[in-house]
Amino acid sequence: MTIDKKFIDHFTNVSLKAALAASYLIGKKDKHAADQAAVNSMRSELNKINMTGEVVIGEGSLDEAPMLYTGEILGTKIGPNFDIAVDPVEGTNFVANNLPGGIAVLAIAEKNNLFNAPETYMNKIATGKIDKGLIDLDFTIEKNIKNLSDFKNKDISTITACILDRPRHKKIINELKNLNVKIKLITDGDVLGALYVSDPKYDVDIFLGIGGGPEGVLAASALDSYDCHFQGRFIFDNDQDIEEATKMGINDLNKKYDLNEIVKGDSIFCATGITDSEVLKGITINNNECISETLVTHKDSNYKEIIKKVNLINE
Ligand code: FBP
Repeated sequence: MTIDKKFIDHFTNVSLKAALAASYLIGKKDKHAADQAAVNSMRSELNKINMTGEVVIGEGSLDEAPMLYTGEILGTKIGPNFDIAVDPVEGTNFVANNLPGGIAVLAIAEKNNLFNAPETYMNKIATGKIDKGLIDLDFTIEKNIKNLSDFKNKDISTITACILDRPRHKKIINELKNLNVKIKLITDGDVLGALYVSDPKYDVDIFLGIGGGPEGVLAASALDSYDCHFQGRFIFDNDQDIEEATKMGINDLNKKYDLNEIVKGDSIFCATGITDSEVLKGITINNNECISETLVTHKDSNYKEIIKKVNLINE
């Protein structure tokens, strides 16, 4: 089944409004307030849509997050059944500190088609479209980089690898350095980090490393529309996470997931810039007008566009 195209507009509006709500808190050194503003907006806008939407990736469980919690049902309850993944502010530090890269994000698939990701870390790898079996989470860094360089017919010194700048990545970063790869270190925001592989204009050949599991699912849903390669493996390294995963029905805790096991069937992905980034311009407010950019993908119609909108505020 295909998700009706009319939902593209509806969900674009949801991410746009969330970005606008968070934009009033840019540079206010309060990441929780920015997140809360976007959460409130997303919730109220999602509730206006004719659907029964279940949050499968949200802001935590009901007791931690009174709104947009995992399991929350949104929409008018008239219309199709959807799974919804939200990250109302991805890059909360960016927004709080007025730095590039803050976005409001959501992804929608038909019921039971989006992976219900636990709130744990995920080891991820993403590239553009490649031959099957070429790049794998279980290969060494060297093998992946050499395979990619052969496939793209590019010298290793011109291959760019994007990775979160974290102490946990010290070994990988050293290996990349020794291979003479061009490293692009990001301080936060690995949804955009992974999305860079979707278009040569961002000049990133491979994204890799450990980041949030929910962010992995969100990135995967966009990368699916670009026919990209993505794999993820959740990291369950403490009793609480293991218990949580077991409750969620994950039996093989070491399973490596391919993109089509994370997002199945049709999906819509929307990300609106809050602050500027290489992918999207952030929100600009001119008098009572809001200018925004939203990256929208719709898998089944092969729709992939950055939508620029000028909206009257309070519209
Ligand atoms: P928030 O916007 O929730 O702060 O997440 C930012 C982020 O950088 C994600 O993009 C990434 O997946 C995760 O944090 C990495 O987590 P950590 O900062 O713990 O390494």
